Amino acid sequence: MNWREVFRKKTYAPEKRFLRRLGLLDLTLLGMGAIIGAGIFVITGKAAATMAGPGIVFSFILGAITIGISALVYAELGSTYPVSGSAYSYSYVTIGEIVAWIVGWELLLEYGIATSTVASGWSGYLRRFLEESLGVHIPLAISGAYDPASGTYIDFFAFFIVILIFILLTVGIKKSAVVNSIIVGIKIIILLLFVSFGLASIKLSNFKVFLPYGWSGVWHASSLIVFAYLGFDAVSTVAEETKNPKKNLPLGLVLSLAISTFFYIVVSLALTGMVSYKKLDVPDALAFAMYQANHPFVASIISLGAVITILSVMLVMGLGFTRVAFALARDGLLFKGLADIHERFKTPYKATICGGILLSLLAGLVPLRTLAELVNIGTLFAYFIAGISVIISRRNPNTSSTFKIPCITILMPVNLALLMLIMAGLPLITWLRFVLWTATGLFIYFMYGFKHSNVRRKAAK
Ligand code: ALA
Repeated sequence: MNWREVFRKKTYAPEKRFLRRLGLLDLTLLGMGAIIGAGIFVITGKAAATMAGPGIVFSFILGAITIGISALVYAELGSTYPVSGSAYSYSYVTIGEIVAWIVGWELLLEYGIATSTVASGWSGYLRRFLEESLGVHIPLAISGAYDPASGTYIDFFAFFIVILIFILLTVGIKKSAVVNSIIVGIKIIILLLFVSFGLASIKLSNFKVFLPYGWSGVWHASSLIVFAYLGFDAVSTVAEETKNPKKNLPLGLVLSLAISTFFYIVVSLALTGMVSYKKLDVPDALAFAMYQANHPFVASIISLGAVITILSVMLVMGLGFTRVAFALARDGLLFKGLADIHERFKTPYKATICGGILLSLLAGLVPLRTLAELVNIGTLFAYFIAGISVIISRRNPNTSSTFKIPCITILMPVNLALLMLIMAGLPLITWLRFVLWTATGLFIYFMYGFKHSNVRRKAAK
């Protein structure tokens, strides 16, 4: 085997397999659908209580600067190479196959595990809502991941919702986009409601100790809450289904992240101002804070809203999963059949059905909480490689992009350094799992992808 072969590059060529159905509004809403979810509704409270206190606002600002530059990176790459597959495809044309495969492998982890993790969180919210608000009791056996010792065998709601989401993804992207738009509308209303009641209920005494765990707490919290920003990249996985992608893709990416960032900073400020950070270690912090501030009606609307809005994260993350699997299969790095497009629905139905089966079982049977951190590290790694890809891409005189990162010589080193900083804040066990996942990916590459790669076949002809 010639080692140089693993760095073979793909030449960029636009494909015409999908219909271009999505406009700027669809893209922005898709982005917000993927971005705003369990991160702000579930993780923020925990991170504030145990890691950063009101200083969580700084963690969000650090995340916003880092991920904001990454969004510009994706915007430039997406406008240069408007193809499915996101960072995977970008690194294939700029760095080479093996790096692209690793990125694709990490993206499957990001989108797949995120879909399943968010499904478990969603199921928890729904069960509580059904039990507390409607008095419906769910049998223990079907209310948790497989754990016979504690009497649970399957998290039925998590399993079921992933199946439903993937059925929707199979029947069509435009239908999925419509459902997503409605959900994002609800999401905005819920957050505006929270912000207006929350800001009015701030007690300055809650800000007296702003950094109870010091700056190191702010740093570790940013490694966790960065989860809340993930997902904007899912927008770039549908480049081939976008009208005028060279203009709409960069705009959609940046707009969706900017709007979400605005909400995160205001919401986290209001949250830690309404209640002492010490009380926020609960799974439904936003609703809980409203109860504490004596707005029980608003609190129950927020609870129900969270159940509805987290759905869109699964929808867009699930979409990202199928499109990355499709791109890997199309290039011969995963089993070819996964790239088949359905005659009528025009979606990669085999990748979607396989993803649905796999991820619904994961969501239903495996306790996925600890894996959320794995999602962060895999995704930040993909953002890091995307950053390197954009630097290499700029050096290629044959590329043209409609969007260029301003002050790239300053912003890119800042971006790469901050991504490393945030990754370094994750626990050792997460790093070990990440190394294990990546090693498994490399094993599969050498057993399958290396031999079946289309680029290799073409070069051999
Ligand atoms: N950013 C997504 C969320 O907060 C993953 O749920």
